[in-house]
Amino acid sequence: MKLAIGCDHGGFDLKEEVMEFLRQSGHEVLDLGCKSHEAVDYPRFAEAVCEAVLADKTEAGILICGTGIGMSMAANRHQGIRAALCHETFTARKSREHNNANVLCLGARVLGGGVVMEIVKAWVETEFAGGRHLRRIEMF
Ligand code: RB5
Repeated sequence: MKLAIGCDHGGFDLKEEVMEFLRQSGHEVLDLGCKSHEAVDYPRFAEAVCEAVLADKTEAGILICGTGIGMSMAANRHQGIRAALCHETFTARKSREHNNANVLCLGARVLGGGVVMEIVKAWVETEFAGGRHLRRIEMF
């Protein structure tokens, strides 16, 4: 899968780890920043990743900030983006299977690295189930 990834300063370290994990797992990753610990505004990076997904430059996106909350709020303002904030693997899987989430949001200050990689793995490996779930996501 080709994914765009973005973060703010609170998510920078975890973004580097997630990128490494994804690349080692055979995925292609487009890094849209930020590129350091310097304080930045997370909506700008949410916008960059959402634009990449909506323009079909990538199939999906991952956004990381301190809590994941700001990124998920900002991403879901973009029509066509279905961003899911996940803290464990059950919702990560269901966000793909039932909601066809095209952006995964993570909270770097909430999660440990080991849990994050399990969430990311579950999310990228789960497919949309379609059927009644398609009808529902077409309603918003
Ligand atoms: C930055 O300090 C922090 O507010 C941000 O990373 C995020 O948690 C916002 O939702």
